[in-house]
Amino acid sequence: MKEIIVAGNWKMNKTYLEAKEFIARLNKKELFKTKVVLAVPSLYLDRLVENNEQPTVYIAAQNCNENKSGAFTGEVSSHMLASIGVQYSIIGHSERRTLYGETNETIAKKILQCLHSNVKPILCVGETLEEREKEETYSVIKNQLESSLAHVDISTIEKIIIAYEPVWAIGTGKTATNDQAQEVHKFIFNWLMTTYSPQIAEKIPILYGGSCNLENAKDLFSQKNIWGGLIGGASLDLEVFSKIINLAEDLNRN
Ligand code: PGA
Repeated sequence: MKEIIVAGNWKMNKTYLEAKEFIARLNKKELFKTKVVLAVPSLYLDRLVENNEQPTVYIAAQNCNENKSGAFTGEVSSHMLASIGVQYSIIGHSERRTLYGETNETIAKKILQCLHSNVKPILCVGETLEEREKEETYSVIKNQLESSLAHVDISTIEKIIIAYEPVWAIGTGKTATNDQAQEVHKFIFNWLMTTYSPQIAEKIPILYGGSCNLENAKDLFSQKNIWGGLIGGASLDLEVFSKIINLAEDLNRN
């Protein structure tokens, strides 16, 4: 049975005090089953994790380096994240791929580092508009999955969360329709099933991301193979994000 996860990706937004207040207010919620994960700016990770004593919210990183340690000025490793208690990190977000040149190979190394350090990676995959129009969606997704997860041992694969984020839907207000999203989620589920096993596929959450908001979250999260959302813009507003969590709670209860 899927248990819906609501994940937020704040990107480069919010001051420390805004972040602290937001999370303190969310932590007042008593949740039945819904897991809430918030990927915050790396600068705040340490203090937010330290203040997060009885958490409703899991604090996540938005990225980490593909090496364990060394001469990589300005970078943070998954090993360092683990050392301050961070349990999740987004890996391979499309903004990292397009703006910072991350390749599937770099992403594969990041995934391995995360798993070695016991940080759960939230692996983002998704096609561009051009790729969708050329009917390359499935081949792009398959290639991203195959190369990013190539070296992952079957014993650790269940620690991964996958986020399907069509690039054309991120920050554009153009959400994938329920059918478009479900089709790709089913494709990913089937890929997991044939690559690993049906039992493993049942356990790996596949989140939808890309202009997910209060209006469309309920229908998207109700699709068979959609386990929740990775939410950018709509995670910045406490009231909106809380309401999306409430929707997920209602679905998790039924
Ligand atoms: P969006 O971003 O919800 O603002 O489209 C999603 C994401 O980038 O993860």
